[in-house]
Amino acid sequence: MAGKVKSLYVCSECGFETAKWYGKCPSCGEWNTFTEEIRETSKAGMVKPERRISSRSSKPLPINEITTDDEQRYFTGSKELDRVLGGGIVKGSLVLLGGDPGIGKSTILLQICNHLGRMLKILYISGEESKRQIKLRAMRLNINSENLYILTETDVEAAAEYIRSEKPEIVMIDSIQTMNFTELNSSPGSVTQVRECTNILMRTAKTLDIPVIIVGHVNKDGAIAGPKVLEHIVDAVLYFEGDRQMSYRILRAVKNRYGSTNEIGVFSMGDKGLSEVENPSQMLLSGRPKNVSGTCVACVMEGTRPILAEIQGLATTTGFGNPRRMSTGFDYNRMSLILAVLEKRAGFYFSNLDAYINVVGGLKLDEPAVDLAVAMALVSSLKDIAIPDDTLAFGEIGLTGEIRSVSHTEERVKEAARLGFRRCILPRHNLDSINLPKDSYIKVIGVRSIRDAYDAVCSV
Ligand code: TYD
Ligand code: MG
Repeated sequence: MAGKVKSLYVCSECGFETAKWYGKCPSCGEWNTFTEEIRETSKAGMVKPERRISSRSSKPLPINEITTDDEQRYFTGSKELDRVLGGGIVKGSLVLLGGDPGIGKSTILLQICNHLGRMLKILYISGEESKRQIKLRAMRLNINSENLYILTETDVEAAAEYIRSEKPEIVMIDSIQTMNFTELNSSPGSVTQVRECTNILMRTAKTLDIPVIIVGHVNKDGAIAGPKVLEHIVDAVLYFEGDRQMSYRILRAVKNRYGSTNEIGVFSMGDKGLSEVENPSQMLLSGRPKNVSGTCVACVMEGTRPILAEIQGLATTTGFGNPRRMSTGFDYNRMSLILAVLEKRAGFYFSNLDAYINVVGGLKLDEPAVDLAVAMALVSSLKDIAIPDDTLAFGEIGLTGEIRSVSHTEERVKEAARLGFRRCILPRHNLDSINLPKDSYIKVIGVRSIRDAYDAVCSV
């Protein structure tokens, strides 16, 4: 029976489907993300429904009889990557590695092959580069493993067939947007293709208990489906972030069924590929301007790690009727709130000034503990008084202008002390929870309000 051809519009951000084109997706609110897809509703053309599981294939078990002994993890040889994964790649898991094109996804995959290849047979399936190109890159990165097999293939069924016949112990797919399921009419990279290809790979991975790492490009114009449409299918989603102009990259877990999602890994891209950055604070603070107003250092927790980051603020007379506010790396609304509190509760007037906030190094900070440093950077610029280089501040700002306590105070102070800071402005309530060694040089100053904090910062 010939199938009925149906045209429908799919949002490349979230996968929302509709019969009519929209400029803005009613589901996720993104603009210009709808692409037309043709779907045939015949038996052969339809997306195959997953095979019905027989009612006896799985039976309920009491939770304390379920064993977890078979959760086996493979270490990648990269401490940062292992940490983000929650302690290595879990056998049989599906990991999505997303990021902008050119950020270093293929590079990191190839680099971990050296370590993984010592014990495991790896199948690297690339739909983007030729074998020769991969070899050249591997030579540059000094990757030479007998256990690394390269396959250039874009047909997902052929790839799955190779996985079944070659029986590798780990599979890498670079990238999911180049994979193609021939039974579907839509072009590679479309939402339907990307989703169905991932489903096929997932079924292969789960039945053979092989971990699969899938690369997914994030793109802004919506022409290809982003990793967002896959997030619910896979076990872990890692995003590679960072400015392509800058050398370092941050790997962040957005979802992880086998670990925490707070951890980040920091890498730096050099001519020998990616290397791990063991001391991110030092790197982020290098090149910090000295004795200038409008900069303050904060200490944020990224997972279990304290990281020091520089916050810059600028307040200038506005040239227009409406003052401009802009923030990079920090929530815009939170910045407006801090400006309002500074005006109302502490008497620092910004209403006829443009105000800008920038978190140095392309970091994105969303922890409330950054508030105080943001406020201090703005006030320092407003008053044109430099905050001493050896001073840092952290704490959450409340609407009455109070400084509220934050978690992990001791770790933050210790990290600051380790990097040579001498004064730390923090919430008063947190003072009791700090136990510093006697020979520590750092002086902790507890503050109750923004005013207190300002006085403490500038009292040298
Ligand atoms: P790549 O891993 O190909 O990016 P993706 O797979 O995420 O699209 O990384 C490509 C970029 O990394 C490219 O701009 C060049 C840079 N690079 C280096 O700077 N040094 C290196 O050793 C390598 C392999 C790449
Ligand atoms: Mg690539």
